[in-house]
Amino acid sequence: DIGSSTNIKWHEGSVSREAREEMLNQKGCILWFTGLSGSGKSTVAYTLEHALKAEGKLAHVLDGDNIRHGLNNNLGFSAADREENIRRIGEVSKLFSTCGVITLVSFISPYIKDRDAVRAKVDAGEFIEVYMKIPVSVCEDRDPKGLYKAARAGKIKGFTGIDDPYEEPENAELVLEVSKEDGVLAPPEKMAGEILQYLKT
Ligand code: PPS
Repeated sequence: DIGSSTNIKWHEGSVSREAREEMLNQKGCILWFTGLSGSGKSTVAYTLEHALKAEGKLAHVLDGDNIRHGLNNNLGFSAADREENIRRIGEVSKLFSTCGVITLVSFISPYIKDRDAVRAKVDAGEFIEVYMKIPVSVCEDRDPKGLYKAARAGKIKGFTGIDDPYEEPENAELVLEVSKEDGVLAPPEKMAGEILQYLKT
């Protein structure tokens, strides 16, 4: 897929993905966290990165707020910009994964078609969608950055879950939810542990 570029040719390297994975003693993959702002995506991703390090596994977190400071600092929150945001991150995460890195991707990524487009670009089983299924009411109660408050006050327009859509995954490999009994969110260590178990099996 060379998009709109012309007169360029794909160059195949001579060191294979398998060779790199063998050096690292692990398989590259993309754990794609999706969910509302304040649902704990990044916290769980960073916790999992630590847990993986403790097992001698190389992981790296790509996080919305951080990437929007650099690579994607020319993008806002319109549907077209969110689409481009996810497209670029999809390409970057594919590069990381091909290097053999366990790539932890933490973006709201509100649109099914954009997440599925990334899934379609990588090998079967390489893309693992992790849905942080936390109700907007819980995210809003937590409001770690005060953004829901600002959105409710009309200071932020087009805030996901308030006046902008979030499309729930239909076939996520993993769904992390609040407790059915008391609606409380499990600690990040427990959620990260669940994902680690999934990766091991
Ligand atoms: S997206 O939808 O995937 O392109 O968003 P993402 O790159 O993950 O960025 C989400 C973080 O940006 C802050 N923020 C907003 N979120 C949603 N809607 C609007 N309008 C908005 N404006 C700023 C917010 O801090 C999100 O951070 P997280 O970590 O998800 O809470």
